[in-house]
Amino acid sequence: MSGNIEQVIRGGVNAGIKGIAQLSNALRSRSGEHPYLVGIHAPLREEHTLTNLRVTGTLPNDLNGRYLRIGPNPLAPVNPATHHWFTGEGMVHGVRLGAGTAQWYRNRWIRSAAISDSLGEAPVAAPAGRARGQVNTNVLGIAGRTWALVEAGVSPVLLSDELETMAYDPFGGSLRGSFSAHPHRDPDTGELHAICYRGDVHDIVWHTVLNAAGEVVRELAIPVSDGPSMHDCALTKRYVLVFDLPVTFSFKMVLAGHPFPYRWNPEHPARVGLLPRSGAAADIRWYEVDPCYVFHPCNAFEDEAGGVTVDVVAHDRMFDDNFDGPDGSRATFERWTLGATASKVQRRVIDDESQEFPRYDERLTGKPYRHAYAMAIAAPGAGLVNDTRLFHHDLATGQREVHDFGPRRHPGEFVFVPRHAQAGETEGWLIGLVVDMNTQTTDLAVLAADDFTAPPVALVHLPHRVPPGFHGNWVPDVGG
Ligand SMILES: [Fe+2]
Repeated sequence: MSGNIEQVIRGGVNAGIKGIAQLSNALRSRSGEHPYLVGIHAPLREEHTLTNLRVTGTLPNDLNGRYLRIGPNPLAPVNPATHHWFTGEGMVHGVRLGAGTAQWYRNRWIRSAAISDSLGEAPVAAPAGRARGQVNTNVLGIAGRTWALVEAGVSPVLLSDELETMAYDPFGGSLRGSFSAHPHRDPDTGELHAICYRGDVHDIVWHTVLNAAGEVVRELAIPVSDGPSMHDCALTKRYVLVFDLPVTFSFKMVLAGHPFPYRWNPEHPARVGLLPRSGAAADIRWYEVDPCYVFHPCNAFEDEAGGVTVDVVAHDRMFDDNFDGPDGSRATFERWTLGATASKVQRRVIDDESQEFPRYDERLTGKPYRHAYAMAIAAPGAGLVNDTRLFHHDLATGQREVHDFGPRRHPGEFVFVPRHAQAGETEGWLIGLVVDMNTQTTDLAVLAADDFTAPPVALVHLPHRVPPGFHGNWVPDVGG
C-alpha cells in the first residue's frame, strides 16, 4: 500500500544510502516460501478478457455497472526475503453486470514503469515530476471516471471503463501533493475528504478535499512527527478524523533493504484528531488513545453534545513482528467515543473476534447508522484472508449474523449497494469476491443484505483464482 520506496529514497536519502539499501535487499535470503506469493496469494500471470460469464442464481435486473477490485499481483520475480504483501504491483479486476447478466470480466495490471517495461510497452502518460509507481490499494468512481489509488506519494491513476491504464493523473493537475487510497464522500455535498501523507515527508500530512466535479479544492498541511502512516480517515458532518497512530517511517527498514519502510513505533504518541472540515491545523482537537493501529474506520457521526463516535477495526499491534505483511495480532471491531469535553478516546469492543475491511451503507457517511459488514480473520499469523465468513453487525441490537461460504471458500471485502436511491439501510446487496481453493476458481457473490445468512442470490463464476486483494467498489453506470 505504501511501498513506493524509490520515491522515498529519492526524496529523503542520498545515493550512497540508496546503494546500501539495494545491496541489503540483494543479499537478504530466506528459507521457505513467502506466504503472500504462494497458495491463495500466488499472483496471476495473465490478463484475461472473458465474456458471457456463467451465473448461478439470478442477478438483480437493476444492478447495472461494474464491480471493481484491486490488489497486489507482482509480475517480475521479487526477492522473497524482503517482499511485503503491500508492495506488489497493482492489478485491477472488474466484472460488468447489466440487465441481469454478467457481461464481462477483465483483469489488468496498473501500468507502473516496471509493468510497462516488463510487458514491452511504452510508458503511460504521467505529469513531469510524478513517478509511475505502484498503485494497488483502491479503485473507485469519482465524478464519472474510474481511478486507481494508493497512499504515500504516487499519483492517482485514471483507468478506462474497461480497466486500461490511461495516465497517472493528479486529478487534472489540481492535486499538488499526495493522495490517499481512502477518500470519503460526503453524501450531501458530493465532496471527497482524505488524509494524505508522503513517504518522503515525515513532519506533515494533508487534509485534501475534492469537489463533486473531482477537482482538488483544499490541501491543508497538518504538522506531525515521525512520519506516521495514515491509511484512512473518517468523516462527520463537521469534522475529519485524523488517526495519528504508532506506525511510522523507519530508516532502519530502508537501510536493511525492505521495500516497505513502516514499523510499529512505541515511542510515537497515539492520538486521534478532530479537524473542523474547513478549519486550520491549529483547530484540531487531539485525543489520546491507547496504542493500537487502525487501517480502517467504519462510519463516524456526531452526538448532540458535540462529541464524535467512530467505529473502527483496531489491531493490537501492526508491523511489529512480521515483515511479510500485517501482523497477526487481534483485530477487534470497536466503538470509539471522542467526548465533547474529554481528552482521551473511550474504547468499547463491539466484537472481539478478529475481522477487517468494515463497510456500511455509504449514503450514511458521517451520520448515525445501524449496520456494518466485515470480513472475518480466522487465525492470527496465517495471513489476512484465511476465513470463510462474513459478519453483519446490527449496532442497535448488538447482534452479529454470520454468512459462511463453506470450506476453503474465502471472501474478501464486500461492498453494500442500495437497491435504489431511497432504499432503506439494509435494502440492497452485498457484493464481493469469494476465492474457492477447492477448485482454484473465484465467484463474484451477490448477497441480499436484508437476508444475510441466506445463500447468495447470484454467483458469477470466474474460471481462475483471483488472489486476495485490498479494496473493491461498485461503480454504477449512472451516478458512478
Ligand atoms: Fe485500506
